[in-house]
Amino acid sequence: MEVYEEFGDQFGDLVIVTNREPYVHERTSDGVLCKKAIGGVVSALDAVMQQWEGGIWIAWGSGSADFDRGDLVEVPCDSPRYRLKRVKLSPKDKQFYYLGFSNRTLWPVFHLFTERAVFSTRYWRAYQRANRKFASSVEEVVGQNSSVWVHDYHLSLVPSMVRGSVERIGFFWHIPWVPWGTFSKIPWREEILNGLLGSDLIGLHTRYHVRNFLECAEAMGYQVDKKRSVVHHEDRDVKIKAFPVGIDYQKFASAKTRASGSIRRFEGGKIIFGIDRLDYTKGILERLLAFEEFLRENPEWHGEVTLLQVATPSRTRVEEYRTLKQDVERSVGRINGEYSTLNWTPVKYFYHTISFNQLIQYYRAADVALVTPIMDGMNLVVKEYIAAKKDTGVVILSEFAGAAEELEEAIIVNPYDIHALAESIKRALEMPEDEKKERFKALKAKVKNRDINWWMEKFFHEWAKVYNRNRTPAPE
Ligand code: G6P
Repeated sequence: MEVYEEFGDQFGDLVIVTNREPYVHERTSDGVLCKKAIGGVVSALDAVMQQWEGGIWIAWGSGSADFDRGDLVEVPCDSPRYRLKRVKLSPKDKQFYYLGFSNRTLWPVFHLFTERAVFSTRYWRAYQRANRKFASSVEEVVGQNSSVWVHDYHLSLVPSMVRGSVERIGFFWHIPWVPWGTFSKIPWREEILNGLLGSDLIGLHTRYHVRNFLECAEAMGYQVDKKRSVVHHEDRDVKIKAFPVGIDYQKFASAKTRASGSIRRFEGGKIIFGIDRLDYTKGILERLLAFEEFLRENPEWHGEVTLLQVATPSRTRVEEYRTLKQDVERSVGRINGEYSTLNWTPVKYFYHTISFNQLIQYYRAADVALVTPIMDGMNLVVKEYIAAKKDTGVVILSEFAGAAEELEEAIIVNPYDIHALAESIKRALEMPEDEKKERFKALKAKVKNRDINWWMEKFFHEWAKVYNRNRTPAPE
């Protein structure tokens, strides 16, 4: 990771702020266990922090904070490289800030599910309180030359809260940014935009999200320069720019697995693979409907193809997620009830997390990756599949995943169009070898070139530029 070498001097002490913590402490029968959190972005940020002299990470200690004796915990636990400060939230704030405002207000609105959004003053107050706690933690650790990098929708108010005490502030918004017609529904839209504009640079995944952001700022009366992609706020130009997040390509491409042939041996036929957090934005139900239609229309494929769908449990205390679980199980049951034979189960459905080793095996065994979210900031599953797959695969990708802006060589579909989705499954399974190879080669090159290091460097490079420009007095 070259980011520290290139930017370390200029950025001073780096403070990263996220909702989720990079290391979790858990009580087990063997005592207290310290585990590294999974997730591509967290791992990448952790790698940077392990190199950065004097780095501090601030996160909500969702349970782990009870294990912290001092104020700062040294991590990684077995060979400490940086310090973690865990913000403690009351059970009420956890409920209203995390489950409430973050995941029942902002999450649905920013994924265009406004009918599911709950607008509650109680949630909003808890969100403000939690953001203030994160901001106070930042203020406690920053020095004169610190840089603070805040992440995601849980923490939109933090940048303006810490503006007075911090030299450089960067923000990355990991979910989509919606058009003004949708954003405007949030009763606290003013505070949220204003909170974010405390940053020097706001990163989003796609150019479309950037256009939406600028449109919102303009509609709210901010001075916007669309050509330069900046919003003028107080005495600064805040740059809004797209940085499509990438993955650790080598980790997936060169992963060694045990028993990689085993899946094929018991399945036979072709494998279509989907893996998602069980979330209504991921389009799992629509995908199942499409697979059902595909089976109805194409009896010659019966017994010859299996849909392997892994859904990992997520936000299980939010009602919408519990209902979705039941709906998915019902659909899987219906399809399997209708089409299974003694030797063949069309949908293999797992509702649990899987190991990295298993994940790589599934990616490599899958002939087709079915990545069809209704709405997704980027979607890293598609990139992981492309990196991990040794031979040629086919990708079916929703046009509403941020990744579709880059990965045009996938079969791009509208996930609401069940019929088109069913046809794309057939097309993927029957794609001529040459076309497959050509498309996959182009996809691999993109995922490889725009990996997580590329993303991080791009962000820091732009951040340095914006910061320096804002410090240079404008000519008289
Ligand atoms: C999305 C968000 C992340 C979040 C993740 C898992 O990818 O952008 O910030 O951490 O979902 O959700 P959770 O609620 O479990 O943190």
